[in-house]
Amino acid sequence: QPSPALAALLAQREFSDADIVALLGLSAAADIECLRRAAFALTTREVGDRVHYRGLVEISNVCVLDCHYCGIRKGNRAVERYTLSREQVIDAALWAARAGYGSCVLQAGERRDEGFISLIEDCVHEIRQRSQSASLPQGLGITLSLGEQSAETFRRWRAAGAHRYLLRIETSNPELFARIHPPTQRIETRWQALADLRDAGFQVGTGVMIGLPGQTLVDLAADILAFADRDIDMIGMGPYLPAPGNAMPAAGALASDELLQLALKMIAVTRLVLRDVNIAATTALQALVADGRERGVTFGANVVMPSLTPREVRKNYQLYEGKPCLDEARDDCRSCLANRISSTGRQVGWNDWGDSPHSRHFA
Ligand code: 5AD
Repeated sequence: QPSPALAALLAQREFSDADIVALLGLSAAADIECLRRAAFALTTREVGDRVHYRGLVEISNVCVLDCHYCGIRKGNRAVERYTLSREQVIDAALWAARAGYGSCVLQAGERRDEGFISLIEDCVHEIRQRSQSASLPQGLGITLSLGEQSAETFRRWRAAGAHRYLLRIETSNPELFARIHPPTQRIETRWQALADLRDAGFQVGTGVMIGLPGQTLVDLAADILAFADRDIDMIGMGPYLPAPGNAMPAAGALASDELLQLALKMIAVTRLVLRDVNIAATTALQALVADGRERGVTFGANVVMPSLTPREVRKNYQLYEGKPCLDEARDDCRSCLANRISSTGRQVGWNDWGDSPHSRHFA
């Protein structure tokens, strides 16, 4: 039973910065359990009891950027670079459609050359056409996660048939953003790209890393309010983890159990504040603890992204150390995750795009 004060806070519909900081700062196990239950119940009410799969295809680890935290940043010479062929990308997505995953995510390092832009355009078009079936009459849902691009590129990819886009702001604190990126990357440009995505007709997803060196609960509270301000449809957040050959220190003072707890509280509080959005239980959670993604689901996440990347190249797409399931075949992932999902009291939302109810506000 929560204290009357906590019960009142958990039942609010509007939250101030101070409310959010207070929730993120909960430390007694019993209080965190009350937060978890409130978030799980609200998830059921607002988005239902289904967890949606997005089959993740990591198309390429080639990247023109040099983000200090990222394992595949341009300056990391130890990484063997790869780009999947058009056929490999399309095969992986069609496998997802046959497996009953309602949608896929095409992700890669950032590139803006015409060859890459048209490869994506072509893959999106082919996947939408060739995945149509009785169980998926509109074809597989396609989410892109390909970094900052011009408004024109976003429009081309939208016209080809992609309908959701993930682009994390990483942190909404401009000083912290500047510390973790080279000076050529600007937070204003990132926000502009998110606005351009909305204008191009995408459902827009963003998110942050949790536990960045120097990041405070006030920063994280501001992140959540920034998602609300910009009417974001989808959230992907995970713990910041050290990357191979990384130029940045490990998460400040947080031990891994504290980091996990903070990441789970972020999911729960984001659910309470944003209510009807989709929230992913990210793979980075599972890098901290074997059942990290399931715990994310019990704290209010309703999306998971099993990898469909061919095993030969999976080890080359390590944004951080300890990426799980490097050797798992995709069929194994499918059944392993389905069991893991049912262990949380949820069911898999097979053969369904699983758009968030929130996205209907502007459809
Ligand atoms: N730890 C955790 N997440 C990371 N990402 C990149 N590097 C790391 C890291 N070291 C996340 C970023 C990016 C997403 C694709 O992966 O938030 O947007």
